[in-house]
Amino acid sequence: MSRQSPGTVQQKADPDTVAIRWLGYAVQLLDQRRLPAEEHWLTIEGAAGVAQAIRDMAVRGAPAIGISAAYGVALAARGADADNWQREVRDAIDQLAVSRPTAVNLFWALDRMGGVLDQCQSRKDAVSRLAEAAVAIHREDLAANMAMADLALEAMALEKPCSVLTHCNTGALATGGYGTALGVVRKLHEKRLLKRVYADETRPWLQGARLTAWELVRDDIPVTLNADGAAAAIMAKGDVKWVIVGADRIAANGDVANKIGTYGLAVLARHHKVKFMVVAPYSTVDMSLASGRDIPIEERDGDEICQVGGIRVAPEHVNAFNPVFDVTPADLIDLIVTERGVVHTPEMTGMHPLSD
Ligand code: MRU
Repeated sequence: MSRQSPGTVQQKADPDTVAIRWLGYAVQLLDQRRLPAEEHWLTIEGAAGVAQAIRDMAVRGAPAIGISAAYGVALAARGADADNWQREVRDAIDQLAVSRPTAVNLFWALDRMGGVLDQCQSRKDAVSRLAEAAVAIHREDLAANMAMADLALEAMALEKPCSVLTHCNTGALATGGYGTALGVVRKLHEKRLLKRVYADETRPWLQGARLTAWELVRDDIPVTLNADGAAAAIMAKGDVKWVIVGADRIAANGDVANKIGTYGLAVLARHHKVKFMVVAPYSTVDMSLASGRDIPIEERDGDEICQVGGIRVAPEHVNAFNPVFDVTPADLIDLIVTERGVVHTPEMTGMHPLSD
């Protein structure tokens, strides 16, 4: 069971898997670089430490990055000088904003925290209001995940159990709890509508093998881990009816940036007449970007693909290209599910039906 401390977000649906804990004076992050070998918690007391944890992927997954950054802003207020607190918190926001570029949840959370900061009258006021705002962001994300799972199941309208395939990690580890795409998988299992979930290993960082498989095995949800390259063969067998993935940023026209390999899965799904669903909280939607072409795609060190588990598998000095996200065009997507509602065939309307 999760240990509850003051300010800890209560996780009702899946108390066993929690990746972020707020202690009031610090944020604790389950270090995802060390899973599944070790459950090691980092205790971080300042915004710089949170920015580093995001950059180094101790915490990852679009919603979890946003939530952690919000706690980072709250910590900046606690550590700020009495005379210069506004400037110091603003600097912390700027520092957090350059930790990773693709997941818009980071910028969404920082904007919201900046708005709260603007209303604070004193450092003391900022300490309590920014902490409350971060806890609210965390709670709302968990609630959004629960709502999305219900909406997704309704939209799938399954008459009998089926198998699904997922990519990367979109579970409790990547969010405020429960998960986005993996929340739908949990709900399918709960309603006895899931035969099996195939989890792509998700090269090069292996979020699928290390994190998704860990979460699902822990919760006794039937999972089969597969190499990314096996997805086509799995779909060709005919058992998989849905590919269900998360998102890091959704442009106004419904194009979706998500973990590298997602676009390929969408092409495969269309070829095999498998439905393709994206599940993401509305904080992942960026209506300021007309299309996916405008989404900044993070490129990480090529060394990530030259090694496996710390052991080099490619020759020294080989040129390596490591974009860690790709963009799936809206016309390959059947459904986008957010807590605000579902967009069917997003190529027709983009995300406009859900915008304010
Ligand atoms: O590089 P990561 O592990 O942060 O990438 C995560 C993903 O691409 C997820 O699919 C996405 O953030 C959705 S998580 C609910």
